Amino acid sequence: MSTLLKLAALLLPVAALGLPPSDLLERQDGCTTPAVGAYADVSEKNLPDPWKFASGSAVATPADFACRQAEMSKILQQFVLGDLPPPPDSLTATMSGSSMSLAIKVGSNSKTISVSITKPSGGGTAGGPALIAVGGASIPVPGAVGRIAFGNDACAAQSNPASHGTGWFFDLHGKTHSAGATLAWAWCVGRIIDGLEQLGAAKTGVDPKKLAVTGCSRNGKGAFMVGAFEKRIALVIPQESGSGGAASWRISDSEFAKGKNIQTAHQIVRENAWFSPKFTTYVNKTDTIPGDNHFLAALVAPRGLFVIENDIDWLGPVSTTVAMRAGRTVYDALGVKTNMGFSLVGGHSHCSFPSATNANLLSFFNKFLLGSGNTNDVDTSKANVTMSDWIGNWSAAPRLAA
Ligand SMILES: *[C@@H]1O[C@H](CO)[C@@H](O)[C@H](O)[C@H]1NC(C)=O
Ligand SMILES: *[C@@H]1O[C@H](CO)[C@@H](O)[C@H](O)[C@H]1NC(C)=O
Ligand SMILES: *[C@@H]1O[C@H](CO)[C@@H](O)[C@H](O)[C@H]1NC(C)=O
Repeated sequence: MSTLLKLAALLLPVAALGLPPSDLLERQDGCTTPAVGAYADVSEKNLPDPWKFASGSAVATPADFACRQAEMSKILQQFVLGDLPPPPDSLTATMSGSSMSLAIKVGSNSKTISVSITKPSGGGTAGGPALIAVGGASIPVPGAVGRIAFGNDACAAQSNPASHGTGWFFDLHGKTHSAGATLAWAWCVGRIIDGLEQLGAAKTGVDPKKLAVTGCSRNGKGAFMVGAFEKRIALVIPQESGSGGAASWRISDSEFAKGKNIQTAHQIVRENAWFSPKFTTYVNKTDTIPGDNHFLAALVAPRGLFVIENDIDWLGPVSTTVAMRAGRTVYDALGVKTNMGFSLVGGHSHCSFPSATNANLLSFFNKFLLGSGNTNDVDTSKANVTMSDWIGNWSAAPRLAA
């Protein structure tokens, strides 16, 4: 668990480095980075550089990258997603048949929820792998992988913008909490994993170190957020997440300006409660946000990430291709390029899984959940993109491989 200390003692050196005042810096997991709320607006046409701290200094070592990941998380929270709360004050899990019950307390609020688990076959007392399905799964899943159904709408509703504040996340944290639904889902899934860890594999049948998450479309945005903000997930499979998921806010705006029928930031905040009310300020000036959605891939790294997209205009095939190729450059610098795959096979309806992708997907299940083989090197997008238009200003990638 991370400790959080205000660094009042570092006032002088901090000021000398041109960083924010000391009360806006925090130390967490060995990193000293600005707090949520302390990041300044920028003016950047390019996707923000993963290899440069907000302070302007270079990311040169694996330890630096871990700290930059902490910044990326906080930047997305400040500008787009809302605040990710710490774990609850208490959580008590019990198992009855195939149902796990979680009694959760945050301050004076408490809530009990139940989660349905289909145990993996043949896991024995060590447990087996399981797939957490955000609102359901629409991918082929190997038989040895169990299922955990995450009812995300009950955690944080997604009916329309006014549904912000409804769901058990908000019952625990208050109706006016800043988290958008997708980040709230990440917190709620964290509680399911707390329950699995507390009960142990002998009771749940699930090994909490072998978890994957998936979801499609709106729930694909959610699956990406769960994987980015919940580090205990081993394999992340967002399917056709488009805007707010695999797509870049900046590039989707650029495609919209070219006349594409594409989902943008200024549209999405009018459609639903997926993002924080804090985001509304930025939806017509996405190039002032010091982050973009290639950061989601960078937050999952080096864990398994298999991003599935489609060539439907609304999802932004150019936008998702550039953002996810930008994400893959981060995996490459970490020496694990093929831990991330980007699959864009078009010509099918939304959320119907193309059989041409079966073998590539299976290679990710095999490596990260079933412990066999290597992943295929997957980038199947045929979108016509010019990477230098979007990452041309980035610093040279450091070599961070172990
Ligand atoms: C790269 O940075 C320069 C200087 O800040 C800026 O003029 C240029 O527009 C940037 N390039 C892109 C593609 O954003
Ligand atoms: C963003 O711009 C659109 C189109 O000009 C406008 O209708 C909308 O109100 C703006 N949204 C915000 C939140 O400023
Ligand atoms: C790709 O885009 C470039 C630059 O816009 C253009 O010159 C080229 O013809 C395009 N290629 C295809 C296959 O559309």
